[in-house]
Amino acid sequence: MVWISVQLSGTHTKRINSIMAYSEKVVNRFRDVLKDPKAHGVGRFDPKDPNIATGMTGAPSCGDVMKLDLKINPETDVIEDVKFKTYGCGSAIASSTMFVEMLKGITTDEAQQIKDKDIANALELPPIKIHCSVLAEESIKEAIENWDEKKATRQLNS
Ligand code: FES
Repeated sequence: MVWISVQLSGTHTKRINSIMAYSEKVVNRFRDVLKDPKAHGVGRFDPKDPNIATGMTGAPSCGDVMKLDLKINPETDVIEDVKFKTYGCGSAIASSTMFVEMLKGITTDEAQQIKDKDIANALELPPIKIHCSVLAEESIKEAIENWDEKKATRQLNS
């Protein structure tokens, strides 16, 4: 475990100190993303591309948001590439990058089998941060729903 001390200053008088235990995996992933965001899938695809599906989810408990773009092969439903934008904590960023790696090369059906617990376990998230990985699971569900809608519209128009 790596201990990170976070000190937040309020407007004038309020000061909060908190200490959170993060696994080294979370810290290393977060640092890697900061060093080279594009290499870790940070960004977005052209929203006009018909082979892009998008999911966006917010975490009600903290207000953080993840937007996930999947580039999908329309013949095979294989996810060929993934990009994300996450406004959130280190655990949410680390979970997002892990999800990007897990999703590349699998089908949309296989992607739906990935659960937030798989990500949380892989990253050794502390219990108080489990909800951060839920953002990723919810975003993939949304993106696949978006993909299914696009496919249905395509079939109606063909
Ligand atoms: Fe909001 Fe982690 S604290 S996603």
